[in-house]
Amino acid sequence: MNILLLGATGQLGSDIQCLASEETGRFNITPWSRATLDVARIDAIPDALAGRDFDVLINCASFHATDAVEADAQRAFSVNAHAVQAMADACRRKGARFVHISTDYVFDGCRRSPYGEDDAPGPLNVYGASKLMGEALARVAHQDAIIFRVASLFGVAGSRGKGGNFVETMIRVGREKGALRVIDDQFMSPTSTADAAGAILVALEAGIAPGVYHAVNTGQASWYEFARRIIERAGVEATVEPIPAAEYPLPARRPAYSVLANAKLAAVVGPIPHWTDGLDRYLHAKGYAQKKSPADAGHEAAVT
Ligand SMILES: NC(=O)c1ccc[n+]([C@@H]2O[C@H](COP(=O)([O-])OP(=O)(O)OC[C@H]3O[C@@H](n4cnc5c(N)ncnc54)[C@H](OP(=O)(O)O)[C@@H]3O)[C@@H](O)[C@H]2O)c1
Repeated sequence: MNILLLGATGQLGSDIQCLASEETGRFNITPWSRATLDVARIDAIPDALAGRDFDVLINCASFHATDAVEADAQRAFSVNAHAVQAMADACRRKGARFVHISTDYVFDGCRRSPYGEDDAPGPLNVYGASKLMGEALARVAHQDAIIFRVASLFGVAGSRGKGGNFVETMIRVGREKGALRVIDDQFMSPTSTADAAGAILVALEAGIAPGVYHAVNTGQASWYEFARRIIERAGVEATVEPIPAAEYPLPARRPAYSVLANAKLAAVVGPIPHWTDGLDRYLHAKGYAQKKSPADAGHEAAVT
């Protein structure tokens, strides 16, 4: 399978590239960075893609610094929606599949059970609105578009657009200050980019049907629960205090609950690991000490 990968320098793109490269003979991957194609230059997309030979285009390029996006809707809708339509259209012309990465922030969080792919979206911020429009335009432009919604990513490469990831921030601030205050009333699906990348590649090999899928680790957590787990498993000496989101105001509104159900994708690729398992492998890969205690079994039960 010949894959052209946009956003290859990002944390998800890096893991897709890494996994696909390990599977030589099954995947032949061509990584493109912004230097090769700036997708904000929408007029350049058709020619750039028409001249390439690929079976699948995977788009990990995105403007997704949620708070910065709030002040730059024009750029957000260019990169996250109109550029996506141009990519999907180019894929349709070539008879190639189009894979696009979206977000849990398409949902409004007004419920307390995991969102399925068919649940009604209702973005609360500009970023979520631009990604939702990208999903829609991809599917309008090309019947063979596959949308993978991911969430709360952590990957070894760190997010380019966000300047790192939550795991690294918690470890750094925990070490520096010895105390963290973390939001406990927003729940989501922490997701390892290694696991999301693996699921996406297996799904493509399996010839997954077009449509929307939730490519997240199993389980859920509040940001506080996620932080507590990071600090414990990385062996950082720091306290973690739960706070309400109201005590940490940000420019962009976030859903109080954006947990995604991954059963639809798991039916194609097999069981998707729990986020605590993905976190342990991440910490191991980054060389952080992992503290194991007799209470681990209890924590496993407490962290859903
Ligand atoms: N990170 C999260 O927690 C999270 C949560 C939900 C959904 N998502 C979605 O998951 C996907 C991957 O996220 P990530 O964390 O891996 O992102 P990332 O590390 O910030 O990577 C984004 C990639 O997009 C590229 N890019 C941005 N603007 C571009 C442009 N105008 N032209 C060409 N390339 C451009 C970046 O290139 P440069 O290296 O040149 O900047 C980078 O390679 C995105 O679609 C994002 O919306 C992420």
